[in-house]
Amino acid sequence: MPARIYAIANQKGGVGKTTTAVNLAACLAEAGERCLIVDLDPQANATSGLGLRANGHSTLDLLDGTPLRELVDAAPIANLDVVPAKAELAAATVHLSALEGGERYLADALRDDATEPYRFVFLDCPPSFGPLTVNALAAADSVIVPVQAEYYALEGLSQLLGSIDLVKRRLNPRLGVAGILLTMVDGRTRLAEDVERELRSHFGDLVFTQTVPRSVRLAEAPSHGLPAIAYDRRSAGAEAYWKVAMELVERS
Ligand SMILES: Nc1ncnc2c1ncn2[C@@H]1O[C@H](COP(=O)(O)OP(=O)(O)O)[C@@H](O)[C@H]1O
Ligand SMILES: [Mg+2]
Repeated sequence: MPARIYAIANQKGGVGKTTTAVNLAACLAEAGERCLIVDLDPQANATSGLGLRANGHSTLDLLDGTPLRELVDAAPIANLDVVPAKAELAAATVHLSALEGGERYLADALRDDATEPYRFVFLDCPPSFGPLTVNALAAADSVIVPVQAEYYALEGLSQLLGSIDLVKRRLNPRLGVAGILLTMVDGRTRLAEDVERELRSHFGDLVFTQTVPRSVRLAEAPSHGLPAIAYDRRSAGAEAYWKVAMELVERS
């Protein structure tokens, strides 16, 4: 069975993209599925959050045509590999947009035969709708859109879904939206309830049933180089991501 490729995208920063990529991949890896994270953010938070750093090779080489198998590093938990990012990836933004067909470099690198060892691939996108995110959407089967439970949550969301649809029509007809995931939900507040209600009334079934609570453990885990299930598996954040992972499998 070919790998299922998910892009984790939202042009806003700090909404939980990296946390979602790392923890969904870790939960599915824990469930026995071989998973891969491709770090597409020059800030390399997914890489460092798993205790890794790019030594020599990085996502940049993947875009330049080096075979995937030569670029993967093992994460500190079983069944999880990472293609690390480094700051130089920022230069690729200019480079990719200047080249003919530059939006398909990642799709070429993640062809079925290259991703064959994996069941799930997560593409952790940078916080902009630039060439790296377009490459991710051109390579993905579907997109997961994390949305932070805050007052401005819905702002820009319809526009983002419109941009995803444009990529689908122009570059990747098989692209779907796996779901909108509400993150950093502070359950005790009226605001969080209002944001969730509004999100569900606008986007209905597109929104994951499971939401992710604000959890100190989720924020601490990366500084220990671990996903939340390895850092504190009983934390509310780890349990929430486990349920999101199961919902994702059911949805696909
Ligand atoms: N559910 C959560 N509860 C608490 N902190 C979180 C949660 N999700 C993410 N964070 C923290 O918020 C910050 C932004 O999250 P991150 O996943 O890096 O967002 P993005 O990749 O969209 O920029 C990070 O410091 C992360 O540890
Ligand atoms: Mg990030």
